[in-house]
Amino acid sequence: MSHRLPQASPEHVRTSDGAFYDDLDGSLVEAWRLLEEGVRDRHSPCHTPSLCTLDAEGLPAVRTVVLRAALPEERLLRFHTDLRSHKVAEMAAQPRVALHAYHPGCKIQLRLTGQALVHHDDEVARKAWQASRSFSRLCYGVEPGPGAAIEAPWDWHQGEDDSVDAESFRNFGAVLVKVQSLEWLYLAARGHRRAHFDWRGGALSKSWLVP
Ligand SMILES: Cc1cc2nc3c(=O)[nH]c(=O)nc-3n(C[C@H](O)[C@H](O)[C@H](O)COP(=O)(O)O)c2cc1C
Repeated sequence: MSHRLPQASPEHVRTSDGAFYDDLDGSLVEAWRLLEEGVRDRHSPCHTPSLCTLDAEGLPAVRTVVLRAALPEERLLRFHTDLRSHKVAEMAAQPRVALHAYHPGCKIQLRLTGQALVHHDDEVARKAWQASRSFSRLCYGVEPGPGAAIEAPWDWHQGEDDSVDAESFRNFGAVLVKVQSLEWLYLAARGHRRAHFDWRGGALSKSWLVP
């Protein structure tokens, strides 16, 4: 019989909040650090944020995406998607999007808004494609395209090796989101902290909010 207690992964549990508690700038730095960690670490909850767009009827449409890049200096996030997916048409019609992630280990929720730009068959898309694993690339060869209605659940197929790469790349989109606002919520036993950061006026405006 094992007497070992379950171990929490140290990377996923906050041990000290000294670097950002009651510190507005520190909270923003920590927010971006969590996003960067989410890119590197597939076990981080920030690896799979929710992306919200508006559909053709004006209703919010939300789904999970994998965060592929987080660049604090440029205020950019990147995820990949199939150009035939509904979200691409939605972002073409309304490029303003929202993203959400909650990190239970750190008790931090991030809510972001931004302007999405879908890159296809350009330098950004090519670099992202080359950095993707061949297993991930195969998904972009699925036929018919994602979201198409089918008679039976197995009425679709995708290639099984790299020979379909060129065709799959035609369906590949690398989406850059220029972050326009970020809301921080930290649930702390000694007092919750909430802050809002907004770049829409040109310069950064920042403020604490009632949690
Ligand atoms: C863990 C997880 C990760 C996902 N990552 C992506 C992704 O990076 N890009 C993507 O387009 N869809 C991703 N999906 C699928 C989407 O959530 C969604 O089902 C699909 O893209 C269709 O969305 P749409 O019809 O709104 O375009 C992921 C789903 C899960 C559960």
